[in-house]
Amino acid sequence: MNDEFDYRGGVLHAEGVSLEALAAEHGTPSYVYSRASIERAWRGFDSALAGQPHLVCYAVKANGNLAVLDVLARLGSGFDIVSAGELERVIAAGGDPGKTVFAGVGKSRAEMERALAAGVRGFNVESPAELERLAAVATATGTTARVSLRVNPDVDARTHPYISTGLRDNKFGIPIDEAPALYEVASRMGGLEVAGVDCHIGSQLTDIAPLLAAMDRVLALVDTVAAAGIRLHHVNLGGGMGVRYRDESPPEPRRYAREILDRVASRDLELLLEPGRAVVAGAGVLLTRVEYLKRNGDRHFAVVDAAMNDLLRPALYSAWHDIVPVSLAAPTGVVRAEAEYDVVGPVCESSDFLGKGRRLALAAGDLLAVCTAGAYGAVMGSNYNARPRPPELLVDGTGTLVARRRETVADLFRLERRLPG
Ligand code: LLP
Repeated sequence: MNDEFDYRGGVLHAEGVSLEALAAEHGTPSYVYSRASIERAWRGFDSALAGQPHLVCYAVKANGNLAVLDVLARLGSGFDIVSAGELERVIAAGGDPGKTVFAGVGKSRAEMERALAAGVRGFNVESPAELERLAAVATATGTTARVSLRVNPDVDARTHPYISTGLRDNKFGIPIDEAPALYEVASRMGGLEVAGVDCHIGSQLTDIAPLLAAMDRVLALVDTVAAAGIRLHHVNLGGGMGVRYRDESPPEPRRYAREILDRVASRDLELLLEPGRAVVAGAGVLLTRVEYLKRNGDRHFAVVDAAMNDLLRPALYSAWHDIVPVSLAAPTGVVRAEAEYDVVGPVCESSDFLGKGRRLALAAGDLLAVCTAGAYGAVMGSNYNARPRPPELLVDGTGTLVARRRETVADLFRLERRLPG
């Protein structure tokens, strides 16, 4: 949880707005984002790279809410997208397709056509087959696709296996030793313009060494390719910069930048980064209310109104999110019980938990904030158990924007129909 969230008079606030008041007005569960926090984090990357031509392309997958994208578009951010859907979000939010890079292993023909028509800055290509398809689509539509090859540098990002992407046996990227030959093929193909190289070794990196090892390999590739007469104009290091969920101490953008800039200082190369989590994670909390306290054997449970369908990360990755009370003091007349609680939701799965073994003093009706939930929270939500998605609220010091209204049950089956007759 970033500095924009703090206790005032014993109540947790976001940019000076009481989370108790937000819960009273908008109900729970609700996502709450701080605009200032998003802006501060994005500027941290942008200013750290000052001095070298660069573009910070926010990874839309981390949080694609239109208001969040709008905040970033107004700062002049670029975007990293992985689907035509994310492209439409960027455009709808006022983002610039000319600053948007299209990544992902499975781009369809239709997605390529749409991206070319919108004028995206370029494509991060992940296989020879994709390169061929892209050349064919660009030629057929009379356009030119700017291409960056996503190479797999075969370094161990030392993060959770589900979010590690830079090792050889991963589905992502092109093995780095096969890249020079593919650049030669690409440079001879119609409809393509070779622009750069990219990599992404994993997410929630808390150590800078793997990223730098990847960078060194990528820069060596730039030289190899140059020797063959092909000039690469940019290096895109992807995203993956970690945040503090519990006790991690990830490097600040400035530290990353110093080491990265040292390596490219004498080169005529534009630097691209695709941070997602580090821009939005700490800018968001999930507000939830305790429905019941119960005890099964030795275990204490706090059953809350948010669940794995709202925030999947604990169930999927055993991820840790701090869980804190919104109000430090119990309301008058209410007695809280202190225990080590498993904070669980109403969904019918044993993996439906937001946190386990949390020492908290709780009473039914209490509000809790699940911290650092701005990235890969709402976007990974589902309607499992016919649960409407929570609203997303953006506070910005002057007020609160309902950036997404709460879904209704009618929303859930709007696209469905009964049998005919
Ligand atoms: N660029 C590429 C090519 C990526 O695959 C990703 C994330 C990013 C950028 C942004 O990475 P970030 O800076 O956000 O770490 N759902 C998981 C994270 C999956 C990340 C997938 N790729 C989670 O909740 O931890």
